[in-house]
This record gives sequence, structure tokens and C-alpha cells, in this order.
Amino acid sequence: MSTRPDRTDPSTLSDMSAAVHLGNRLDSTKALRTPLVMANSYELPDDPSEISWSATAPGLYTRNTGVNQAALEHKLAALDGAEDAVALASGVAALHAVFFTHVRVGDHVVVSDVTYEATWRLWTELLPGRYGIEATFVDIGDLDAVRAAMRPETKLVCIEAIANPTTKIADVRAIAEIAHAAGAILMVDSTFTPPPFYRPLADGADLVVHSLTKYINGHGDAMGGSVAGRHELIQPIKADAMVDVGGIISPFNAWQIQRGSVTLPLRLQQHFRSAERIAHFLAADPRVEYIYYPGLPSHPEHELAERQFGGRGFGGMIAFAVKGDADRQNRFVANLRLITSGFSLGHDDSLIVHTGTEGGRVATYPEPFRVHGHLRLSVGLEDADDLLEDLRAALDATFGAEDG
Ligand SMILES: Cc1ncc(COP(=O)(O)O)c(C=O)c1O
Repeated sequence: MSTRPDRTDPSTLSDMSAAVHLGNRLDSTKALRTPLVMANSYELPDDPSEISWSATAPGLYTRNTGVNQAALEHKLAALDGAEDAVALASGVAALHAVFFTHVRVGDHVVVSDVTYEATWRLWTELLPGRYGIEATFVDIGDLDAVRAAMRPETKLVCIEAIANPTTKIADVRAIAEIAHAAGAILMVDSTFTPPPFYRPLADGADLVVHSLTKYINGHGDAMGGSVAGRHELIQPIKADAMVDVGGIISPFNAWQIQRGSVTLPLRLQQHFRSAERIAHFLAADPRVEYIYYPGLPSHPEHELAERQFGGRGFGGMIAFAVKGDADRQNRFVANLRLITSGFSLGHDDSLIVHTGTEGGRVATYPEPFRVHGHLRLSVGLEDADDLLEDLRAALDATFGAEDG
């Protein structure tokens, strides 16, 4: 028996319908879009003395959440398949919110050794130095090593479903089992793998983090981060990291991200289709030193990607280097006309960044990244033929006809 979809009931909506309808809450204005409410304070009842200043309900003060934050959180929880979600000022604020709320002095965490730069710095310098929390970095591709890293005081395991920038893939189901057997919770940074493409909670993760700045907003014009999971894990993040540390997202950014996320499922299809074509093109070009894209059979975790992502694609991010030194990488980027050099990813426009081989973090990457540096390409929504032509022309201009 089929269920008739109802735009107010997430449990009856398919992915595409949920992305369109959720977060639009009809109020007394009957507007079909949640109005943008920029007020930072609300009128209190006659006797406000009983209200907790750390409450996490709308209608008090915007640091305690507001109309637009709550609407976005409602939508994100449904998209991630979670009981609850919290939206914060940036992806990094979301990562820090998890660490600040769920780990204490004397605890231990296990962290992927190819994790995103800020997570790396938080766990190598900032949190151990300030709070005395010890972190063990581990190759999450080696499940025995993950098991061996767990201690009685391990509270949290931190991984990325597809890691930035190496594209290393974590076996979320297997790592969740190891974490749970040791009494720890698993946090998956799923910024490269947003819903509906992948839902780490369905594979046993306890918390999923997104930089909303990237695919979920998708238009390069707002910053935000989110954490989703069981209510008992999200509620303390709201009370501690949102209200009392102040990592709240602005109403305007929440509104922008909600609007951007309407087209998320549709955009992902185009990002992924084009990325696959571009990856195959680069892999076949002799001027390319190496390439990592989970959809290529040469990717070390290609089979895991096929199994874990269920044939829905392999993401929109490609890591590669052209043959030659750092100057050559820079010249190649400068020769691109459509693809832009920029830090972010998951936007409508294609972005590329050259990280070089210098610097503490890069020195810890696997061999081809460490030796040759790398280019991180975020494949955008332009016509794939135009992107292929841009890459081809930039390779020709960089290497000259004789090397081509
Ligand atoms: C995997 C991953 N996590 C977290 C972040 C941080 O997000 P934000 O820049 O929104 O703070 C990024 C940003 O690039 C990222 O790539």
C-alpha cells in the first residue's frame, strides 16, 4: 500500500520531496516560505524569572536559537535520518561543538590520520594543550590498528566518510562496531558525502557533521555547520556549545542554507556525473602524475565506495597532480579559465586549490600527496564538456605541444 506524501510529515517524503518542502513552516502570515527573522531578542512572558537562560527553544534570544535556525535543523535532521540536529556558525564550529560537549579532561579520542586540516590541528595542538585530552591518530583503513588504538577511556572516534583532501574512504559500519564494542561513540564528518547520497547514521555512526558551507548550501554565499544524531547527544551540544559558548548560526545564513538545500539532491547528481567523466579523462592523460577519485577502479577503496555508497555515485571531489614541481601545478591552475582557484568546495562553480608540499599537515599525507603536492578539484555544475575543455586547454598551455 502506498503512502500519500504529506509535506509536513518527513516520514512520508522521498528525498527529492523532503529537500523541496521541509523547513517551510506556515505561520500566521501564511507565507509559503519561512520568513527571515533577524530579531535577536523576543518579548518575554509577564513572569520570566523561571525561564532558564540556557534553554534551547526559539522565542527567547537568538543565541538560544530562532525561527530560521529551528526550521533548518528540522530539515537537516530529516535529511540525515536523525532524531535531532543542531546548526552552528561553520563546519569547524560544529566539529568543535562535538569535541567540546562530548569529551572531557582525562578522556581519549581516536582520530583518522588523514583527517581535515582543522580537525587535525584541534587534536594535535588545541585540545590536548588546553584540556589535556589525548588523541591517537590511526590509519582507519587498518581495522586492527583502529581496534588496537581503543582504550578504556576512549570516548570518541572521529573519521570522514570521504576524507579531505586524500579521498580516503572510511568503512563506517566496521568502525562503528569497533567504537561501540569499546564503549565509544563514532562521529563522521560527512561534508564530502551529504544526504541523500550517504547517511552515516544508517551505517551505525552516532553523530554526523557537515560543513553546510559546502554542498548543502551549494552556492558559495553562506557559512554554517551541523551535527545530527540521537536527541540525547544533540541536546547537550545545543545547551553547551550553542547557547553557552555561542556558536549559533545567524538567521540569515540559516535561511540562505535552507534555500540552497532545496536543490541538493538534484545538484549532487550533476556534480557526481561530471566528476566521474573528469576523473576518467585525467586518469587517461599522461601529463597527470597521479589521481585519486573513489569512482576509479584504481582508487584503493573503490570496492568499499561501491558497497558503502550503494551505486549512487562517488562524490564530486578529485585529488590529483600534474607532472612536475610546484611551479608547474601553479601554472596549470593559472591556465584554467572556467575553473577558479579557491579554498572552498561543493559550490555551483568549480573550484581548485593547490596545497603544495610544504607545511606541517601536508607532510603527514600519504606518499604521492607528500612528494608531489596536490590539486583538489571540486567539480561544479557547469557543463561537463566545458570543464573537460578547460582542463584540456590548460594542460596543453602548461606542457606545450611537444610534451603533450
Ligand atoms: C571535511 C571538512 N570538514 C569541515 C570543514 C570546515 O567547514 P567550514 O569551513 O564551514 O568551517 C571543511 C571545510 O573545508 C571540510 O572540508
